[in-house]
Amino acid sequence: MTDRHPMRPFGAEIDLGTGDMLEPERITVRKASDMRGYYADAGALERLIQEGSDPVHYQVFEKPVPETPGNLMYCISKLMPGVVGDEFFMTKGHYHAVRETAELYLCLRGEGFMLMKTESGECTAEPMKRGRMVYVPPGWAHRSVNTGDDPLISFCVYPAEAGHDYGDIEQEGLPKRVLRVNGRPELVAAAAE
Ligand code: F6R
Ligand code: ZN
Repeated sequence: MTDRHPMRPFGAEIDLGTGDMLEPERITVRKASDMRGYYADAGALERLIQEGSDPVHYQVFEKPVPETPGNLMYCISKLMPGVVGDEFFMTKGHYHAVRETAELYLCLRGEGFMLMKTESGECTAEPMKRGRMVYVPPGWAHRSVNTGDDPLISFCVYPAEAGHDYGDIEQEGLPKRVLRVNGRPELVAAAAE
């Protein structure tokens, strides 16, 4: 008789001090040059790419599971600290391709915001800091923003079939940006670009 549930249980280790996943099987790396078109100050991004030798912007560490309904994908998302012009480092941001899928982020290190938006244009931000959980409901695009001096590291869990849709965020961005104003983070309306 074949087993209806052939997958075997397994474990993974995450260093709660540093936020690092031990022995990840897949690492996605986004460099500064992958972020062209995302920041308000395109010139500042080019200077970072040239003068900083195209530094790593963020990484996603995974031990992937099959992308089928019933499974839970999980990862460590690690976003470096810094600014592009006055704008704090951020991830690209995406909707889940399967819109009816949520995501849970547990922040392990650093501080910042989870910037979220619906397709009808509602936009909100939830603070992130060590020990704080942010729940991204179905239908909300989400982008992490690092406003601190350390890497912003979160443990993320979401339905494995969710997929990623970068489409309209890549074209239009989000209605709000997180800028450094007088040394402090401030959410400001994105200028019509
Ligand atoms: C997965 C998820 C995170 C992000 C990661 C990188 O659904 O939300 O693991 O994928 O923080 O951000 P993006 O994918 O927007 O480049
Ligand atoms: Zn997601």
